[in-house]
Amino acid sequence: MSTHDQPTIPGAPAPEPPSFDEPTTPREPLPPKADQRGPETRTPTGAATDLPAEAVAQQGAHLTTAQGTRLPDTDHSLKAGPRGPVLLQDHHLREKIMHFDHERIPERAVHARGAAAHGVFEANGAAEGVTKAAFLRAGARTKVFVRFSTVLGSRGSADTVRDTRGFATKFYTEEGVYDLVGNNIPVFFIQDAIKFPDVIHAGKPHPDREIPQAQSAHDTFWDFVSLHTEAQHHTIWNMSDRALPRSYRMMQGFGIHTFRLENEAGETSLVKFHWRPTLGTHGLMWEEAQLLAGKDPDFHRRDLADAIEAGAFPQWELALQVMPDTPDETFEGIDLLDPTKIVPEELAPLQVIGTMTLDANPTNYFAETEQVAFHPGHLVPGIDVTNDPLLQGRLFSYLDTQITRLGGPNFAQLPINRPHTDVNDMLRDGMHQTAVHAGVAPYHPNSLDGGCPFHAGADAGAFIEVPARVEESVKERRQPASFDDHFSQARLFYLSLTPVEQQHVADAYAFELGKCFEQTIKERQLAALANIDADLCASVAASLGLPVPDASIEVGEPEPSPALRMVGDQWPIDGRMVGIIADDQTDAAELAAVRTALDEASVVPLVIAPHGGLLGDIPVQRTPDTAASVELDAVLVLAKSDDPRVLRLLDEVYRHAKAIGVADAASSVLERLDADAGEPGVVVGSASAVVREMLGLLAAHRVWERLSEATG
Ligand code: HEM
Repeated sequence: MSTHDQPTIPGAPAPEPPSFDEPTTPREPLPPKADQRGPETRTPTGAATDLPAEAVAQQGAHLTTAQGTRLPDTDHSLKAGPRGPVLLQDHHLREKIMHFDHERIPERAVHARGAAAHGVFEANGAAEGVTKAAFLRAGARTKVFVRFSTVLGSRGSADTVRDTRGFATKFYTEEGVYDLVGNNIPVFFIQDAIKFPDVIHAGKPHPDREIPQAQSAHDTFWDFVSLHTEAQHHTIWNMSDRALPRSYRMMQGFGIHTFRLENEAGETSLVKFHWRPTLGTHGLMWEEAQLLAGKDPDFHRRDLADAIEAGAFPQWELALQVMPDTPDETFEGIDLLDPTKIVPEELAPLQVIGTMTLDANPTNYFAETEQVAFHPGHLVPGIDVTNDPLLQGRLFSYLDTQITRLGGPNFAQLPINRPHTDVNDMLRDGMHQTAVHAGVAPYHPNSLDGGCPFHAGADAGAFIEVPARVEESVKERRQPASFDDHFSQARLFYLSLTPVEQQHVADAYAFELGKCFEQTIKERQLAALANIDADLCASVAASLGLPVPDASIEVGEPEPSPALRMVGDQWPIDGRMVGIIADDQTDAAELAAVRTALDEASVVPLVIAPHGGLLGDIPVQRTPDTAASVELDAVLVLAKSDDPRVLRLLDEVYRHAKAIGVADAASSVLERLDADAGEPGVVVGSASAVVREMLGLLAAHRVWERLSEATG
């Protein structure tokens, strides 16, 4: 069997393998890898070009200056003799160093760390009754670019930190760009955008030592959220496994705010957007997340890119919760303008309106993932904003910050941001202007450019704001009384979880508050927990060694929402990783058969052996040096091993409630693990039978029974 017949292992760095010797024969640049796509080749003003995507990248076989002049050498500065000083006239040295010196741009103020992919959204038409947006009509297919991110960490921080995740989607619709800039948690910390700088200052590292990086387990964060108790609902989601996604592919997305949709007849509805992943919503265990931050800080971006490269394209359904547009903008007693509140799915069921598939990796991280510029104000006809005060502030913030981050006002012309439709604005000049505007009259009305551009009416697809009523009132810095309920939905969330999920929430509070220095802050947060749930509060207080405070507010008994649980169902297993522990004594045919069975189930097999290279003709992907339990969803043991690194890997897999399959010949390994054949998720038998059973176990994400036993 040649290695080309083997299951695909993602991660090849280049489209073709390198030669050992330095290549010296000039040739054209290699094309992007098969899994990659760049931005569409559009002009800065949105017109399609016939150019292939590669045409906007490097051209020709020879090294040139930025001006296209060919160069004979880029390894030696121009000097006065081999030992002499470097000459100021070395134009190539100066250009090369000058450009390098300016390669960095400011990272995003928030959501700096992210990963992205291209894809397509296909609408099923179910939204036609509530919105006239063309990209939501039945059968419409729209290109998308999606960027997932953490909120707090810097660009180089780890992927698996405990944090909210961004889920920002750019739809390149025929009516202009529509951005759905959401998160994987359906509520936000604050109710008014004026507090955004404050909550972010509190969450970011302390300003004196600039620690801790990318996490909320520190005094300023808990100081803020215990004083601004509106943050308690978002915070309890952050303490759940939702804040530790197993993969970007296994994460829900939420538009959070209520939007006002308008259909062709001019009727309006109040609507919330939800992304629902086909693979289910799954979390890491806290210890896994911590280990991954060291073993593979790029875990989420690698997982996304590898899955797409392997053809396991992630998918999400886009769904709506549709509520009537009543004057009080309230549904079942829930204020729809309060971004710290959800509408339980049991009260307003999700209506699926289309499917998104991510099918290509970016060709260049900087050009695409870093330079993409989202903005909640990028709207299309049929989708409008509400008066949610958090959303209103966002409408200002994104454009404003992008001027600094992207170096001027023309960032909409960057290839990844270009609309896929005609652009005829009257914006001119500015830093990095790349459109060559013709005409003399960028103003309206004009007669010198023949009157162009002209206003469009609603019949010509204009975006016309919904004429929503604004009540006569006085100017004041106040909010509605309904915004004062800070605890009922935090309790609703907690009561909706399964016992094992509740235990993880309690453990997370104990960890985070345990990392705080100030006892006052711990006590203040315990006082907030007392208003959410007495048992939760008591458990965290016991861990901290502090007294249990009494509740200060009567919260009531909300009806749990089972839709908020992540545990208890079966999901597709595409792209899951299974480690196979083998060695030179392993039966080659058995190893090959196991790999093929996993590959055919769309699971990625990773062979872990005592040495690199080949076992027979099967490539080894990991050795005890490079293997890590935390990148695996399950492990299959075909060979006994006494290597302490392998035993530690198996111990972690076991503790993290992942399936372990053991071939009969290797069953003695269980004694080293203190695990018994037949206990939940520990399968012993012939290799083929074990694989079959493990595929079933993977569908539940984890062997939850094992954890329930551990946590009582
Ligand atoms: C529901 C609340 C919010 C959600 C869901 C949200 C979501 C996001 C997401 C997903 C990103 C990353 C976009 C990307 O991948 O490039 C982002 C960036 C950002 N957000 Fe928010 N955000 C929220 C609230 C706010 C508020 C209230 C403000 C300010 C008043 C704000 C300011 C920013 C800024 C400045 C950036 C960086 C943008 C850039 O540099 O391109 N966000 N937000």
